[in-house]
Amino acid sequence: MSEQELSRRDFIKVTTGIVGGIIGAVVGLPAVYYLIDPALKSGGKEAWIPVGKLEDMEVGKPYPFSFTRVQVNGWERTATSHAGYALRRSEAPNDLLILNSRCTHLACTVNWSETAQAYLCPCHDAKFSSSGDVLDGPPPRPLDRYDEFRLTDDGVLEIYYREA
Ligand code: FES
Repeated sequence: MSEQELSRRDFIKVTTGIVGGIIGAVVGLPAVYYLIDPALKSGGKEAWIPVGKLEDMEVGKPYPFSFTRVQVNGWERTATSHAGYALRRSEAPNDLLILNSRCTHLACTVNWSETAQAYLCPCHDAKFSSSGDVLDGPPPRPLDRYDEFRLTDDGVLEIYYREA
């Protein structure tokens, strides 16, 4: 076996190794990225949520809305439902009170009652005023508010949702 043959053999070995490595990277890296991608993504913990057109909201009458958020935590996806009421206090476009309809006692969903002119909680008979103050029952505090909101150019009311 000559020196020339050995170096040719080594060259083929090295070249085969390099080509094999490149093919492995081309095939393997997308697969690795696919596997770890969900873990790198943020969970979408805050966002502007459209709740309805302002023109559909009657002044003085709570306007119900609901939305669902999907939280991504690595490979786990969790959907949570949210609801609330938007109340126009006057004709002024920004004179709005937006309440979360989750009862501040044990998180049941309150409903607006036209008859009682109040939000009623079906779980332990709590009663909240149209501005969310506790009128009766065990809740320790008023209904939570969505304080950050905006109107789009199309007149759609959006609230700023931030995961608690
Ligand atoms: S959960 Fe609403 S009063 Fe208890």
